[in-house]
Amino acid sequence: MKLNIALLAGDGIGPEVIDQAVKVSNAIAKKFNHEINWKPALTGAAAIDAVGEPYPDETHEICKNSDAVLFGAIGHPRFDNDPSAKVRPEQGLLKMRKALGLFANVRPTFTFPSLLDKSPLKKERIEGTDLVFLRELTGGIYFGEKGRKEEGNVAFDHCVYSREEVQRLARKGFELAMTRSKKLCCVDKANVLETSRLWRETVQAMEKDYPEVEVSYEFVDAVAMRLVQWPNSYDVLITENLFGDILTDEASVISGSMGLMPSASLGADIGLFEPIHGSYPQAAGKNIANPMATVLSAAMMFENFGLLDEGKAIRDVVNKALDQGIVTEDLAENGTSYGTAEVGDWLAEHI
Ligand code: IPM
Ligand code: MN
Repeated sequence: MKLNIALLAGDGIGPEVIDQAVKVSNAIAKKFNHEINWKPALTGAAAIDAVGEPYPDETHEICKNSDAVLFGAIGHPRFDNDPSAKVRPEQGLLKMRKALGLFANVRPTFTFPSLLDKSPLKKERIEGTDLVFLRELTGGIYFGEKGRKEEGNVAFDHCVYSREEVQRLARKGFELAMTRSKKLCCVDKANVLETSRLWRETVQAMEKDYPEVEVSYEFVDAVAMRLVQWPNSYDVLITENLFGDILTDEASVISGSMGLMPSASLGADIGLFEPIHGSYPQAAGKNIANPMATVLSAAMMFENFGLLDEGKAIRDVVNKALDQGIVTEDLAENGTSYGTAEVGDWLAEHI
């Protein structure tokens, strides 16, 4: 297969972890006879510095004309403590999600047999955990009208959802559930929020189209609790944008390190693949960041093209590295750890 992939490394550790995913993808391309044409483009604080905005038109053109986007991370501390900043790296991510129609954010949480004791949760609680969040990504409170009134002393962010937005996300959830254990959990706050009542009513009406899927409806606060109590009781969860943002960070550490979990953002045509973690500026340039989440995001990219053997080859080699202790310092036992680039080299070689 010939693949054009937009490469958006972004900020902080983004460029370092992206480099490893490129090495691994190139090794896969060689082994399985594919041709990957990488197209680097600017985003985040790096783009603000270069051209004054976090998701420049040129970057959008490159993404639109590619088969997929591989994304590192965005964010820079100089914006975090400046609420008055007019241009922020995060705006680039939101603009990109909207412009590319990426309404479904697929965020899995699974465990690695060799890392069970790295989890902040007890081993017996997390064994067998294999769940997937489908987070709605282009609506809700993130994109509703926002502003200030009463001379700046009152602020508001509106949460808005249409039935159609809920349906298209829920459809992906039902379809995913059909390929897994046929269990779907709709996460909302329907006891308080009108948008949540729309979610619940819309999903309830869709149940008849997927008679084999067993659907449960749970409030977001209860899910936050049960996620750390019984993570292995969940399979596919669907939820709105902000709830999904919060719950997927919570879920991402169950596997033992934030540096392990990949994600995909899907919509109409092209998909975007990125690690769940952020730009981790304290580690930038130090060759210590864990590249596994980005490497596994590349696996999701191949799988989304229907290249399942390629995806599996990446997952297998990652497991092998974790088993053999070829890990960065966040996962190191007895002080033995490898650099970001060395882990990437090892993975590519062993493919
Ligand atoms: C994420 C991030 C983003 C979000 C930020 C950086 C805008 O936290 O991808 O989860 O809130 O969606
Ligand atoms: Mn987040």
